[in-house]
Amino acid sequence: MYVLGLESSCDETSAAIVSMDSEKREILANIVASQIETHRLYGGVVPEIASRAHVEVISRITREALETAGLALSDIGAIAVTTHPGLIGALLVGVNFAKSLAFANDIPLVSVNHIHAHVAAAYLANPTLRPPFLALVVSGGHTSLYRVHDEVTFEEIGATRDDAAGEAFDKIGRVIGMPYPGGAALDKLAYEGDPKAFKLPSPALAGDDLAFSFSGLKTAALNLINSATQKGETLSHADLAASYTDTIVRAITQKAGEALDRTGDRTLVVAGGVAANSHLRASLQRLCEARGVKLVAPPISLCGDNGAMVAAAGYFEHQAGHLSDTSLNASASDLMQGR
Ligand code: KG4
Ligand code: ZN
Repeated sequence: MYVLGLESSCDETSAAIVSMDSEKREILANIVASQIETHRLYGGVVPEIASRAHVEVISRITREALETAGLALSDIGAIAVTTHPGLIGALLVGVNFAKSLAFANDIPLVSVNHIHAHVAAAYLANPTLRPPFLALVVSGGHTSLYRVHDEVTFEEIGATRDDAAGEAFDKIGRVIGMPYPGGAALDKLAYEGDPKAFKLPSPALAGDDLAFSFSGLKTAALNLINSATQKGETLSHADLAASYTDTIVRAITQKAGEALDRTGDRTLVVAGGVAANSHLRASLQRLCEARGVKLVAPPISLCGDNGAMVAAAGYFEHQAGHLSDTSLNASASDLMQGR
């Protein structure tokens, strides 16, 4: 079955086509139009600009995806679209486009949760992957642990109480003068510094909870930068990047380990934009090797927002009979009423 996946929840517009059945997970096209250069001028995503930019490209990239896959709309078995969570105006562009396309061409319409889509990237990366497994979603908006019971049933067992890991990377990146988003640049810079140079508070909350809090870490790093500036001292950005990254990676690895202990899962999936972080991937690899657990980390191209992951998640929703009609709406929050 061919599924068209549409993504417009934040600052990437994407249209993709996957070919999936009970065994097959193949990406035929995955066109991503990034708005990063536009938002860079403002140091972060400007929601109104994001919505307009989605409107400008969504038709063109959908056509491009069909052309790349060598398919016509009449070949498409389902249209999957990200409906939540995300920026409401940005989401509505994808949702309304998907609704019109589905209605005009009589194609089944499927609503997809963006977080579930990030996890679904793992099925494309590893076609033999089957639930149950533990999923760690680390992105610009989320730092959460889920028990994935089956392809469409997620149980959140841990989450951040405030900021997400990606936000924490981007914030410090911005303060030390890196272009938005700072995550990937900090990843590289961290190799040039000493991870023990600064002692920073761990975002892994103590206790039995599988909970994170990144606000204390962010404040501590900002205080270090500000006090160095006030004293006229130069603080090594490489040392800060290394210590900051090390603190985040240790905390996430610790909680992932605790979650594996709790659930007894033998597979860990890591997903979301921050799953591209090379230090985190290496640390999770060590954690999993030590426990004989299989780590599934999608290639970098499938970690950030893309339509292929939406199409993959949509395939499973379609198989589960979760179809939507033209009353489909979008929601900024993790929860959405109706489908
Ligand atoms: O999943 P994503 O593309 O969008 C959301 O759903 O939020 O994640 C974007 C986040 C940004 O915060 C970005 O800085 C971060 O992923 N990111 C990274 C790396 N590559 C992207 N963070 C750390 N290391 C990286 N290599
Ligand atoms: Zn995302």
